[in-house]
Amino acid sequence: MKKKITVPDIMACKGGAKVPTMITCYDYTNAKLVDESDIDMILVGDSLGMTMIGMKGTVGVTVDDIIYHTKHVVAGAPNTFVIGDMPFGSYNVSMEEAVKNANRIFAEGGCDCIKLEGGTDMAPVVKAIVKAGIPVCGHIGLTPQTSAMMGGFKVQGKSLEAAQALLDSARALEEAGAFMIVLEGIPAMLATEITKRISIPTMGIGAGAGCDMQVLVAQDMLGMNDWVPKFVKKYADLRTTILGAYNDYVKEANERTFPAEAYQYNAKIEGLENLK
Ligand code: KIV
Repeated sequence: MKKKITVPDIMACKGGAKVPTMITCYDYTNAKLVDESDIDMILVGDSLGMTMIGMKGTVGVTVDDIIYHTKHVVAGAPNTFVIGDMPFGSYNVSMEEAVKNANRIFAEGGCDCIKLEGGTDMAPVVKAIVKAGIPVCGHIGLTPQTSAMMGGFKVQGKSLEAAQALLDSARALEEAGAFMIVLEGIPAMLATEITKRISIPTMGIGAGAGCDMQVLVAQDMLGMNDWVPKFVKKYADLRTTILGAYNDYVKEANERTFPAEAYQYNAKIEGLENLK
């Protein structure tokens, strides 16, 4: 059975040969599968707005949504490190609100740490949550919750000035006590440079192979969506498999070849013709 990793294990991976991996997960059935796999960590991301609830983006996901999904994932994956995402609006009002919401996700969700988006500006919030005893994962670069400010889902850090701002943010998060940082949607050479210049591990998504760890959205890498961003490799084609299964079922039900004898209860009942 897989041994659950801890915050110190994750921090110790920095610069090591093993690349810890993370996948998003939002429900019990899939959590059980991840738990059986070699994947080290689960993110109950606010991407659940799109993957589970059918929203256009992540804004609108609530703390209650995250807690609901986190609880079920934790139940299904007792041997996997679980990160609960702080949704938009749960940590940008006041420090008190931020700590209160982090406490709720950590305690009610039962996860192993929380994640929040933002760099230098959010460092004081990270510091307050860490002080409250909750491990924090940072998230910089393309931050979906504030993508409206970026003009959409665009690669970040492409100029020298923007690259410096991201490195400064990474350092500010490290200084504030974050134990790891997600780098999303930035040039691979910048992610490699940030990874070299901070002492906590980085986890890349659309940030190249130079990060200490990697994360992907499950629905993307399993090929459940028809469109995926450039950085996603489809490791399966579940969309075709699932659609094929649904349509074969409809066809066989209509042909009355399903359920065949093997799929029915064949107990003999004497005198059934006498039913009134
Ligand atoms: O919510 C999410 O799935 C994320 C990943 C893209 C890192 O934040």
